Amino acid sequence: MAKDFDIKDIKLADEGMRRIAWAEQEMPVLRQLRERFSKERPLEGIKMSACLHVTAETANLMRALQAGGADIVLAASNPLSTQDDVAAALVQYDEIPVYAIKGEDNATYYNHLKAALDHAPHITMDDGADLVSAVLKDRRELLPNLIGSTEETTTGVIRLRAMANQGVLEFPVIAVNDSQTKHLFDNRYGTGQSTLDGIIRATNVLIAGKTVVVAGYGWCSKGIAMRAHGLGANIIVTEIDSIKALEAAMDGFRVMPMVEAARIGDIFITATGDIHVLDGEDFAAMKDGAIVCNSGHFNVEIDIPALEKMAVEKKQPREFIDQYVLADGRRINLLGEGRLINLASAEGHPSAVMDQSFANQALASEYLLTNKGKLENKVYALPVEVDQEIARLKLAAMGISIDILTEAQVTYLNSWEEGT
Ligand SMILES: NC(=O)c1ccc[n+]([C@@H]2O[C@H](COP(=O)([O-])OP(=O)(O)OC[C@H]3O[C@@H](n4cnc5c(N)ncnc54)[C@H](O)[C@@H]3O)[C@@H](O)[C@H]2O)c1
Repeated sequence: MAKDFDIKDIKLADEGMRRIAWAEQEMPVLRQLRERFSKERPLEGIKMSACLHVTAETANLMRALQAGGADIVLAASNPLSTQDDVAAALVQYDEIPVYAIKGEDNATYYNHLKAALDHAPHITMDDGADLVSAVLKDRRELLPNLIGSTEETTTGVIRLRAMANQGVLEFPVIAVNDSQTKHLFDNRYGTGQSTLDGIIRATNVLIAGKTVVVAGYGWCSKGIAMRAHGLGANIIVTEIDSIKALEAAMDGFRVMPMVEAARIGDIFITATGDIHVLDGEDFAAMKDGAIVCNSGHFNVEIDIPALEKMAVEKKQPREFIDQYVLADGRRINLLGEGRLINLASAEGHPSAVMDQSFANQALASEYLLTNKGKLENKVYALPVEVDQEIARLKLAAMGISIDILTEAQVTYLNSWEEGT
């Protein structure tokens, strides 16, 4: 057992172990990397602090990094996303110190981040840039030891790029989200499926025939719209970017401003990375019984303080639902406290997409080490060859083969003289 940790209940370890093994079956690329890592030990002697959603898939990443020689600790990257049984299994069977309890309050959340940083890491691994922000603001004594960091999600990458642009980033960061094998799959198919899963588990409402309003038409929201449509919903998309709005319109969805959509929607899902996408004006226009939830990184997309102010009563009709009763009796149902609904009331992304995201994470750590001293204090994407290799391994695991360019085709594609 790990010496130091803060988890809910160590007795949940066996259940966690079963779920980790189940997830592993769907993670063939990470499994192959783990095998290579255990032979080559590319992370030997490297201390790592990870701040990720503590799920069965993350556990498989932790085990791959450990097999590569890393001495790793893990803290939650969201107060509601921890799977307590998985946390227990990592502590009990892999001797990995974990600091994560589902439902932890903000003070505990930040204490857990602190505990992860007390490990004095060479590499930090973030999902939302929390560790990097803490190092740069409060833990500057860790900077000399730090080789670099990896970042999982869009919101984190946006923040890190802002830091690099302002010249305050003091080490290199690999933006895992920039890999195509990450955002094209994890954000789209992963968030698409698991967000609907979260809504259904929290409410058990029928999606067919409902009007579902999806805020944003980026990678995540595209997946959400696609899957809700597949379940028989009428989709409305709201956007602030004219190209994305046009794309949504040509994909066959209605597009309009949120305040108009607010009057007709039954279910509202935000996934924009932006603040107050649903605000008081929208709540005031909503129908009785409207369901609102968020799948973007932070719980700021829905203006919950405005909803609190407008409500005369707050009830809890089911787990994961806060029902706000407005002065005229209309009820607005907020799911999962406005936090990532796919992790709050469901289990996060399916393992098969996290296989690709976490293969990128594992290779990003290796990349930071093989390029130590050569990288500037900037945000980098992994080289396209790494992305291609992950896709190749995944296709092979799925039993899919593809065509290979002939020599004549290579020549043709590199020439400009041949034509009509
Ligand atoms: N739930 C999950 O498990 C999960 C997984 C991956 C990413 N994320 C998070 O989801 C969020 C979106 O990620 P993404 O990869 O889709 O980003 P993206 O940049 O591809 O898309 C965001 C879209 O939102 C639009 N937008 C911004 N402000 C808006 C507003 N006020 N109204 C309507 N649209 C608006 C942008 O124009 C853009 O098209 C981020 O916070 C990201 O970190 C969550």
